[in-house]
Amino acid sequence: MPAAGLMPLSKLENLEYDEWEKMIDTNLKGTLYGIGAVLPYFKAQKSGHVINVSSVAGHQVHAGSAVYSATKFAVRTLSEGLRQEVKPYNIRTTIISPGTVETELTEHINDPEVKNNQKKCIKLLFHRMR
Ligand SMILES: NC(=O)c1ccc[n+]([C@@H]2O[C@H](COP(=O)([O-])OP(=O)(O)OC[C@H]3O[C@@H](n4cnc5c(N)ncnc54)[C@H](OP(=O)(O)O)[C@@H]3O)[C@@H](O)[C@H]2O)c1
Repeated sequence: MPAAGLMPLSKLENLEYDEWEKMIDTNLKGTLYGIGAVLPYFKAQKSGHVINVSSVAGHQVHAGSAVYSATKFAVRTLSEGLRQEVKPYNIRTTIISPGTVETELTEHINDPEVKNNQKKCIKLLFHRMR
């Protein structure tokens, strides 16, 4: 289950090339390489279950989430392609799309406006859950 992820949200106009690269490398390529690592074994044994972690951000895009969302949309795309390809080998595929959960994920957000919005969103969610 490839779950490693990074979410340094920022607006595209900030031109955070390094952050874009890291998100694509970790969230997208990490998932792809995880699939590549298990696929030969799952095929040979004719069983296995690939569980990929997308996000609500893989279904919706907001200002500041374009690149993160693109990687998470891509995780869903990869998973759907995989599902269609591995049916004959009895390999199962699952996509998990969690909503916002307070973890270390938000610590990498450097854009103050986006970070503030994200904090407000988390506060609102916890308030609603009480
Ligand atoms: N929290 C949320 O609200 C939320 C919502 C939807 C989806 N998700 C997804 O859930 C997954 C887990 O996130 P989380 O919330 O648990 O965040 P987290 O606490 O920050 O955990 C992320 C994990 O990814 C690892 N990681 C980051 N970059 C890596 C790399 N280049 N190579 C190997 N491992 C790397 C981190 O390892 P180190 O600690 O060693 O860096 C850490 O264990 C992510 O895919 C995230 O996108 C989270």
